Amino acid sequence: MKILVVGSGGREHALCWKLRQSPRVSEIYAAPGNGGTAVEGTNVPIKDDDIPALIRFAKEKAVDLVVAGPELPLVLGLSDALTREGIPCFGPNAYAANLEGSKAFSKTVMHEAGVPTAPFRIFDEFELARDFVREKGAPIVIKADGLAAGKGVVVARSVEEAEDALDQMMNRKIFGSAGDRVVVEETLDGEEASFLAFCDGENYAVLPSSQDHKAVGEGDTGPNTGGMGAYSPAPILPRERFEETAEQVIRPILRHMAEKGQPYKGVLYAGLMFTPDGLQVLEYNVRFGDPECQPLLMRLDSDLVEIMLACIEGRLPEVEVKARPEAALGVVLAAGGYPASYPKGMEISGIAEAEALSGVKVFQAGTAVDNGGVVTSGGRVLCVTALGQGLAQAKKRAYEAVALVHFENSFHRRDIGDKGLKRLG
Ligand code: AMP
Ligand code: GLY
Repeated sequence: MKILVVGSGGREHALCWKLRQSPRVSEIYAAPGNGGTAVEGTNVPIKDDDIPALIRFAKEKAVDLVVAGPELPLVLGLSDALTREGIPCFGPNAYAANLEGSKAFSKTVMHEAGVPTAPFRIFDEFELARDFVREKGAPIVIKADGLAAGKGVVVARSVEEAEDALDQMMNRKIFGSAGDRVVVEETLDGEEASFLAFCDGENYAVLPSSQDHKAVGEGDTGPNTGGMGAYSPAPILPRERFEETAEQVIRPILRHMAEKGQPYKGVLYAGLMFTPDGLQVLEYNVRFGDPECQPLLMRLDSDLVEIMLACIEGRLPEVEVKARPEAALGVVLAAGGYPASYPKGMEISGIAEAEALSGVKVFQAGTAVDNGGVVTSGGRVLCVTALGQGLAQAKKRAYEAVALVHFENSFHRRDIGDKGLKRLG
């Protein structure tokens, strides 16, 4: 089989790495890919949002399966277009991808499907939103409706901050049309976890729980990033509670989308918060999380190609989705300055030495191949991931590996996994 993976992050490197382990795979392409996907297969210079070019390439090379890494191509209709051409695509159609592409759509679906989520209102007019915020008071959460590169959510601590966020999004259009509409919702408090499930339109198969670290600084301080590290399992959501949780947050969505005639096929990611009053869904993503994907795929002990095909063909119960009993933990190495501006083109050394350690894999994100070597090309550069007997060993191994990898002005959080370790006592 020939597989095309769309995207260029650490998640896509992990997808290529895992897919390549399937005996069914003969060729892997990544569009546009990175330094890591170039090791697993062949990079093709097509951007992830260039749907016509992706379709042309898939037809030209007679690709047997397209795997969408990020949400943007799905929201733009990649899956629909490929399906029309008779090319299997892992990832939901554009309608279902709105679960991530539109916060207003997503919240409305959650409400209608009976999924626990914060009370909310949707606004198209600045004045009405502002009046509502003044009436409700702070803290309050403002969310741009559309895709805003992970920056569209403001947890406002004061009414002024909330009004300012509304002004930036709705009047000044800092996210373009993504801010034409906003969701204003009640603030929740608690620990977060990510819970992902493979879906075939009717059935689901859960992956183990995981936890991301969104803030740039240790102790969850400083601005938010795409994610500075992740681990699995997350002790806050133990294995005994997976099925019950899936029945609360995955099943209702599958049922709802099927009733709309838009069955959800792909991986569904529920962003959960465990509040004192119980579990609430903060958001859905229509893809693997990055960096959650890296530890999750290291733990996946089944053939990912078989799982993806079963999702597309509506026969998920026929395949095995098994997780290794070990824990996995990934630490992101970022370029100095990230998430603000940072330099590129720094030479990276030590990847092979790190991977020589037992149970360690270095997934590349913002990297490129340059003169045979690997250089940085983004803010999140690598995700150094390790398996271990339990979280503590996974953490120890991951940080031993981190110490072997170098590039100028690299930084990382030293507390990845600590929340989970604390909970384990
Ligand atoms: P979202 O994209 O909706 O997951 O929001 C991004 C982040 O904003 C989440 O991971 C939370 O940390 C935070 N967040 C979103 N909604 C709320 C809420 N209702 N209360 C508190 N924090 C929130
Ligand atoms: N790690 C969070 C996300 O991928 O959205």
